[in-house]
Amino acid sequence: MRFPHEIAIDPARCIGCGLCRDDCPASNLSVAGGKAAPLTQACIMCAHCVAVCPTNAVSISGFDEEPRPLDGAEALEPARLLAAIGARRSMRRFAEGPVSDEAIADIVEAGRLTPTGKNAQDVSYIVLRERLDRCEQLAVRLFRRILPLARLVDATSRRTEVDEHFFFKGAPAVIVVVAKDQVNGALAASNMELAAQAHGLGVLYSGFFALAAKLSPALRRELGLARGQKVVTALVVGHPAVTYRRTAPKEPADVRFL
Ligand SMILES: Cc1cc2nc3c(=O)[nH]c(=O)nc-3n(C[C@H](O)[C@H](O)[C@H](O)COP(=O)(O)O)c2cc1C
Repeated sequence: MRFPHEIAIDPARCIGCGLCRDDCPASNLSVAGGKAAPLTQACIMCAHCVAVCPTNAVSISGFDEEPRPLDGAEALEPARLLAAIGARRSMRRFAEGPVSDEAIADIVEAGRLTPTGKNAQDVSYIVLRERLDRCEQLAVRLFRRILPLARLVDATSRRTEVDEHFFFKGAPAVIVVVAKDQVNGALAASNMELAAQAHGLGVLYSGFFALAAKLSPALRRELGLARGQKVVTALVVGHPAVTYRRTAPKEPADVRFL
């Protein structure tokens, strides 16, 4: 985590029920004399203790937001959720028009709310709008250099032309997802795509741009990436210029029950 945090328990509110202790994945709470207390501040700060406390006695400092009460309105309806997941498509043709700041904020928020291993919260986001063209040009320049080599070993690339909009397809915005941990970044990206879909936007994950950002020092400089920071993916976002009328068939799940 980037900021310092400390767990505090308000003794006037704590009823010593032990729920925080029992639910803590780091075994970092004890109850003595009818009151709970943290054992250390060396904790992953997942805030289960805050979330589970029936009397709101637990707090963790250093966050900008107050915990929000949960009342069941967040429940997902399984059939609608699966229908939405199944309806999404990669969008490669975009209509004119900007993506609103509100939509961008919601998409980033979906990433921020996504869980991370050990609660590292190590995913960051670069929103490309003004410098979108410059970043795309640098990626195009690289791919045009490496395409002849790729064509020696890969049949698909023999049919590929790297035009000016090869990466971002003329979309007005791109959100580059940066993380040290690929899984954390990928999970965030998936929820971000759902948030974009909820705004009626189309998304393309650009694996090619992630590759370009790995290989091109000039592009890494343009993105302001520090050593060790990986572009996990880039969400190319815009208004869809295509309406898909039915779902696409997918192969059955390769699943085993043991
Ligand atoms: C991690 C990842 C990277 C991708 N990279 C690209 C890309 O660079 N260019 C592209 O045209 N499509 C890219 N795609 C889109 C896939 O080709 C697409 O998801 C797949 O064909 C299934 O189609 P659908 O997304 O419409 O269901 C990527 C998808 C994923 C999940």
